[in-house]
Amino acid sequence: MTYVTRINHLKHTDKNPFNNLFIIIYPSGPMDSRNEPREIIRLDLNENHLLCEEYYETLVSDLDIDISDYPSEYSEELCQSIAGHIGVRPDQVMVANGSDEVLEIIFKTMVSKDGVLGYYEPTYGYYSLIANTNDIKVVEIPLKSDFTLPGIDGFVDDIDALVVCSPNNPTSLTVDKRYIRALLERDVVVIVDEVYAEFSSEDCLDLIDDHENLLICRTFSKAWGLAGIRIGYAVSDNDNIMQLIENMRAYCVNTLSQSIAMSAIDNSHHMERSLEKTLKEREYLSEGLEEIDFNVLPSETNFLFCRPPSGIDPFEISRALEERGILVKTFEEARINDFLRITVGTRDINDRLIEELEDILDS
Ligand SMILES: Cc1ncc(COP(=O)(O)O)c(C=O)c1O
Repeated sequence: MTYVTRINHLKHTDKNPFNNLFIIIYPSGPMDSRNEPREIIRLDLNENHLLCEEYYETLVSDLDIDISDYPSEYSEELCQSIAGHIGVRPDQVMVANGSDEVLEIIFKTMVSKDGVLGYYEPTYGYYSLIANTNDIKVVEIPLKSDFTLPGIDGFVDDIDALVVCSPNNPTSLTVDKRYIRALLERDVVVIVDEVYAEFSSEDCLDLIDDHENLLICRTFSKAWGLAGIRIGYAVSDNDNIMQLIENMRAYCVNTLSQSIAMSAIDNSHHMERSLEKTLKEREYLSEGLEEIDFNVLPSETNFLFCRPPSGIDPFEISRALEERGILVKTFEEARINDFLRITVGTRDINDRLIEELEDILDS
């Protein structure tokens, strides 16, 4: 069934103006009395709903911007803030509208006209979409049966740039850094998509200074709980950053989003606290799912990649949850069509999810 979704700001303004966890879902087609909209909980998009009300209130009340003027051309002030926060130089940072746009700019810049882009499978579906819409040739490299990465000798010489999603969406696993170091020694551009890195025990930022062929992509959509402002950034050697900037539009990131992101960094203790909460809730939800016989992969993200008990169809579970107002992610691809991907929620939501699952499995 298809739906038209709309964020229900009004209903939740009193709690948190940017929290789109609760949305009204409208069945498609003409509305009539039997087609009443209903509230649902979205655990299918890996947004972060564990930041507190005070954080969002601060970000909005701190706004001091002049919207009659164009924004800064390439978000220079925000690049400085980000650089200070992650411990790199401002000239090693480039900002765009979400990491989706950052990735698109990187692919278009780093893969020449007849060049080849590689990425592992299964991974984030947008890589193939960007490549297709920009006529970029791709090589898909299958992950091993345990979803770890295969040896690099079999493919690395045939590609110009390689995307490594770490931790990987949807498998939730972080890539061993020794593997990334080995890739960086080869003649290939390595693009590490680290949009979930804040939830992980490892990241590659410390490799930037010594490796000109490394580009890292990050976002404010996940750990920072700001998917709505669409801010992503690249971190790399300054020569690469200058090339990326040549391939992007000036003034493309709006003043409001830049300002909110800077304020989020100034108030980063909220994000740090929500990270602690997420890790706790991730363990809690994972244990809850294992108690009802789900097989859960060890996650380093804000979501769980899990297999329902044997003989239970994940699509059936997802449909039953949807009827009860909870959305989770299913997969059509053969290798992972027996898995579900579930965003970690608040304690109340995690409890509600487990309760509904127990009920569904019992019926
Ligand atoms: C692996 C991965 N990369 C990039 C993105 C895009 O994030 P953004 O909201 O910054 O565009 C997502 C979004 O879910 C993702 O899972």
